Amino acid sequence: MTIKCSVFIATSLDGFIARKNGDLDWLPGSDGAAEIEDYGFKEFFLSIDTLVIGRNTYELALTFKEWPYRGKNVVVLSSRFPKTPKNLAQGVEGTSLSPAELIHRLASSGSKHVYVDGGKTIQSFLHADLIHEMTITRIPILIGEGISLFGPLAHDIKLAHLTTITFESGFVKSKYKVTTTS
Ligand SMILES: NC(=O)c1ccc[n+]([C@@H]2O[C@H](COP(=O)([O-])OP(=O)(O)OC[C@H]3O[C@@H](n4cnc5c(N)ncnc54)[C@H](OP(=O)(O)O)[C@@H]3O)[C@@H](O)[C@H]2O)c1
Repeated sequence: MTIKCSVFIATSLDGFIARKNGDLDWLPGSDGAAEIEDYGFKEFFLSIDTLVIGRNTYELALTFKEWPYRGKNVVVLSSRFPKTPKNLAQGVEGTSLSPAELIHRLASSGSKHVYVDGGKTIQSFLHADLIHEMTITRIPILIGEGISLFGPLAHDIKLAHLTTITFESGFVKSKYKVTTTS
């Protein structure tokens, strides 16, 4: 199966991806304001064909002025599907398949590179040993509490550091390859 799953996400220095109520006010650019530096996001986004996102991340994307995933195949994970196909945007599919079942299905339909996004979603893919690469940009701020990027694991996951880039803004972007899962 030649399918790759990647994470590309920003965290506070204390490891949160959003405040407890989902707010991203601490994350520059999250309000859609034009940023001069995109921290490599555009290049990454061009490299993927499919997004797998959690329901919470999907509901946040629905509040943006423009649909942020234009041109990509989007799958929203929720235990509520197919019972509640809540106003899905055009071209968006909802599923309650397990991460392994979903990736198997996406690979069979020709998907090559999947962007996995949302805290719980990333954690469930890590649990299923399905993440290959992670690019994490640390923002120089402590927010004290919030939604964690990572959580408890059944076993250690070893990573190989690939690159780290420091930006003038103080953002630090590190890319890791998942090497072993035990
Ligand atoms: N800092 C960043 O770069 C960044 C990036 C993305 C998102 N965010 C923020 O992160 C927050 C969202 O993260 P989150 O951890 O709350 O949630 P999430 O992963 O976006 O969504 C969680 C929901 O997705 C569904 N889900 C996830 N894994 C599933 C699985 N294996 N099977 C079935 N359903 C599954 C469940 O929906 P049901 O409850 O319907 O079953 C679960 O409650 C938002 O506030 C967003 O703004 C930040």
